[in-house]
Amino acid sequence: MDLGLAGRVAIVTGAAHGIGYAHARMLGAEGATVVLNDVDAPALAAAAQALAGEGLSVATLPGDATDETLVRSAVAGLNERFGRIDILVNNAGIGVKPAAAVAELPLADWQRMLRVHLDSTFLWSREVVGPMRAGGFGRIVNTSSMNFTGGGRPGVAHYSAAKAGIVGLTQTMAKEVGAYGITVNAIAPGYVATELISTFSDDMMARLANQNPVGRLCQPAEVAALVAWLCSMHAGFVNGECICMDGGRRDFFWG
Ligand SMILES: NC(=O)c1ccc[n+]([C@@H]2O[C@H](COP(=O)([O-])OP(=O)(O)OC[C@H]3O[C@@H](n4cnc5c(N)ncnc54)[C@H](O)[C@@H]3O)[C@@H](O)[C@H]2O)c1
Repeated sequence: MDLGLAGRVAIVTGAAHGIGYAHARMLGAEGATVVLNDVDAPALAAAAQALAGEGLSVATLPGDATDETLVRSAVAGLNERFGRIDILVNNAGIGVKPAAAVAELPLADWQRMLRVHLDSTFLWSREVVGPMRAGGFGRIVNTSSMNFTGGGRPGVAHYSAAKAGIVGLTQTMAKEVGAYGITVNAIAPGYVATELISTFSDDMMARLANQNPVGRLCQPAEVAALVAWLCSMHAGFVNGECICMDGGRRDFFWG
């Protein structure tokens, strides 16, 4: 299926590693020019070099995705450079290390979690509306988690709250911009094999795989394939959705 992504300009936040890198690779392979953002500048440069080596059209935008000044000037600069912004994938995120029950959760940890996941999603989404509206086309895909759709694992209330907030933002914004040809959707992956969960023990990884109805963890490229389709010309009537990609697990038992 031709996704109609050739010539599109896409921004992916948190693109130096894991799922974000897979998004950049998938969108680039489908013909989009991909602008990779990440706070990890050396890894970002290496990621872009690897993708360029595959013949993909990429650019980099190092920096913190929660920095309002950076986001505003980056989107304006990209719009000036490319004359369009078609796709935004809000992916930047951090894991929970260490887990803490609400009764023990420091305010700073709570605020950092909301800032990285929710503030960044809000900031980038707000800035791209103008260019997308001018182009009459836009695809925004936000990253929630099974941690929210599955009901929330004890010890990660700040992560679950951020991912819940992302769905609320998605549903509301979808109604605000749908008439301009812009869709806003979210994905809610289950456990995906990336560095984010690399602190889990081998034993825990094996159990998580065995507990899943599919019998394994999700791969980043599988998430990227779903997102590429959501960004395609075929997905114009999918709007305000949060799509679970958890192998059918749906709940959050732990142990
Ligand atoms: N791995 C999973 O099991 C899983 C499951 C559900 C949802 N998610 C979500 O998917 C997204 C990607 O996760 P991943 O597993 O690829 O993680 P990862 O740790 O492999 O990659 C996250 C990337 O985000 C970048 N990043 C972190 N803070 C940033 C900031 N402030 N500004 C810019 N970049 C920043 C990191 O440098 C890194 O490159 C996250 O939003 C995460 O919450 C992951």
